[in-house]
Amino acid sequence: MEADWRGFLNKVICGDALNVLKRIPSNSIQMAITSPPYNLGVNYDAYSDDLEYDQYLKWLKDIWTETKRVLVDGGRLAVNIAPTSIKNFRPVHHDISKDLRDSGMIFRAEIIWYKQSMTARRTAWGSWRSPSNPHIIPSWEYVMVFSKKQWRLEGKKENVDIKPEEFEKYSDGFWLIPPDNDSFWHIPPERVRNGHPAPFPEELISRLVKFYTYKGDILLDMFGGTGTVAAVAMKLERQFVYIDISKEYCEVALKRLTDYCKPQTTLVACRRIEPELMMVEA
Ligand SMILES: C[S@@+](CC[C@H](N)C(=O)[O-])C[C@H]1O[C@@H](n2cnc3c(N)ncnc32)[C@H](O)[C@@H]1O
Repeated sequence: MEADWRGFLNKVICGDALNVLKRIPSNSIQMAITSPPYNLGVNYDAYSDDLEYDQYLKWLKDIWTETKRVLVDGGRLAVNIAPTSIKNFRPVHHDISKDLRDSGMIFRAEIIWYKQSMTARRTAWGSWRSPSNPHIIPSWEYVMVFSKKQWRLEGKKENVDIKPEEFEKYSDGFWLIPPDNDSFWHIPPERVRNGHPAPFPEELISRLVKFYTYKGDILLDMFGGTGTVAAVAMKLERQFVYIDISKEYCEVALKRLTDYCKPQTTLVACRRIEPELMMVEA
C-alpha cells in the first residue's frame, strides 16, 4: 500500500475522487483544500453538475468521510463554496458544514472570500425598490476550515514560511461593515480561467497554505480542476495530490505545472518534482 500511495504524490491523477481517495492510506495528508462541484448545472467537461440536492449532499458526505480518514490528526480541510442562485436557493454551506461537524470534524473558521464581482452590470434585482421580493446577490464565496480530531498540527519551526505581516493580515477572516473596511480578503476573481468554468485564484490558496501548513506538508485537492492547489504547492515547497475526473482538466493542470518547470525556472520544487499524468480507473 505504501509504495502504491507514494506513487500518487506530485502527480496529476485523472480519476473519480472517491475511488482514488480510497487508495490513500489513513493519516497521510496535512491539508485538503477543495472546491467541490457546486451542483448548479455548471458546464463541466466530464460531469453532470445537476444532481438532486439530497443526492449531491450524500455523495459529498462520502467524500468527507474519506477525506477525514486520510488527514493526519490536526490536519485541515478547507472547503470553498459559493452561495447558490436565487432561483433555486439552498444554504449549501450550512448543510455541508453540518455534515462535516456530524462526521466529527472540528469547525475552526469561516473565511469570506469577497470577489468584487458586483462591479459587473446587475440585472436580477428581484422586486426593484420594493420590499415585496428583493434579491441579495452574493459577491462573495465561503471558505470553511475544519480540523481532524485536534486543533494543533505538528510541524517543525524551521518549516514555517509565513511573514509576520501576512499572518496578521490573513488572520482577519472577514467582517465587512463600512465599505472602506480593509479587514476582509480582497481577492479579485481569477482573470485567466484556463478554460475552466470555476477556478479559484492562486492568492486565495497561497494564503490558506501559508497560514495553515508547514513547508514539506502534503496538500490534497480531490476536485483539482485547473490545478491551482497543485501549482501553489509547488511554488510554496509543499507536495500535492491532485485528482480530477476530467481528462481535459487534468491535461490543463499538467500543462500548468510543467510550464512552471521550463528549463529556466528557479523553483526549488522543479528540481525535486516532475509532475506527470496518471490515469486511475474505477
Ligand atoms: C469547482 S471545480 C474545481 C475548480 C478548481 N478549484 C480550480 O481552481 O480549477 C470542480 C471540479 O470537480 C471535478 N469533478 C467533478 N466530479 C468529480 C469526481 N467524481 N471526481 C473527481 N473530480 C470531479 C470537475 O471536473 C471540476 O474540475
